[in-house]
Amino acid sequence: MDWRIPLFKIYWDEEDLEVVNRALRRGTGWAIGPEVAQFEEKLSGYLGTKYCVAFNSGTSALHAVLIAYGIGPGDEVIVPSFTFIATANAALFVGAKPVFADIEEKTYGLDPKDVERKISSKTKAILPIHYGGCPCLIEELKEIAQRHNLILIEDAAEALGASVKGRKAGTFGDSAILSFCQNKVITTGEGGAVITSSKEIYEKLKLIRSHGRPETSDYFSSTEQVDYVTLGYNFRMSNITAALGLAQLNKIDTIIKMRRRNAQLMSQRLSSIEGIVLPPSPDGFYHVYQMYTVRVKNGLRDRLLEHLAERGIMTKVYFPPVHQTLFYKNGLKYDCELPITEAVSGQVLTLPMYPSLSEEEITTITRETIGYFSEVQ
Ligand SMILES: Cc1ncc(COP(=O)(O)O)c(C=O)c1O
Repeated sequence: MDWRIPLFKIYWDEEDLEVVNRALRRGTGWAIGPEVAQFEEKLSGYLGTKYCVAFNSGTSALHAVLIAYGIGPGDEVIVPSFTFIATANAALFVGAKPVFADIEEKTYGLDPKDVERKISSKTKAILPIHYGGCPCLIEELKEIAQRHNLILIEDAAEALGASVKGRKAGTFGDSAILSFCQNKVITTGEGGAVITSSKEIYEKLKLIRSHGRPETSDYFSSTEQVDYVTLGYNFRMSNITAALGLAQLNKIDTIIKMRRRNAQLMSQRLSSIEGIVLPPSPDGFYHVYQMYTVRVKNGLRDRLLEHLAERGIMTKVYFPPVHQTLFYKNGLKYDCELPITEAVSGQVLTLPMYPSLSEEEITTITRETIGYFSEVQ
């Protein structure tokens, strides 16, 4: 559908075209090429982390990182249900069990208290997300992980550039994953990465990413005989994609600045509406607004979505709880009580948010929203 105001728009410029063009014109190295390592290095530099391995999606990054930590059958991984399904599925990919913990209302991230309640003798890892670009209570979660000797893996798919007290999301855990899918802070169409400070995990990730084959040379242009040392996949990011990632990363400060400015304007305009809770912004938490999500009280959410859709404005419910999907509820027979997740999920509505969102578009979104509330109240 062609929306008057879509939920997101990709921010791109001539540099994106040029770098891809250059990588293509080389006529070789479209799969494995120099830009992959350059992108990894640039991303590590941006985040201030030691190692980075690029993947072809955030989902394959999640899959690989759980394998790298040796998580498998008999293990439990504590995850939110208020997330994109891939976070929970990652545990299933490796034969482990996702155990859902509730969220808190300060950041909509995992509630440290409930996480602690869900820890069992089988728990191996905690896998929180930073919802929509707002860091979760990661310091508290890190303290719990350390006290219980658990692995902490941050799903920072939505939060590249976010920080807590100046420290970047993704650098608190043992490892973190990122996504560069088209609706993320920066995008390569599809793409992902794992960042880590562990050399051992880094080495394992490189093997898992590419068929269990040591990357001693470029497989496609070397006669060197290589052996296969473990089970691996083809989770590689293409060199063309990595070239785009480099150009996107050059723009990240501008992108985040624009997102934050737009979010501020949107919040100013919506703040007069009684029935709406604005996105969280706790002190010291630097939100990058990958999404701009409000809560709509009094059961008025679904009708607001329709009201805006009728006027060409796309909004969406991010996220319906994972434990209530057909797959988890009927297929896997999950039956959990997650009262805050269910309450928040029943109220959230993600409004359009992208760097180039104009003041005129913000005026249209907020005017139509205010109009809706004056009709229903
Ligand atoms: C929280 C979260 N985790 C994981 C993913 C998966 O990333 P990808 O779509 O790149 O596979 C996403 C992306 O939608 C996400 O929002």
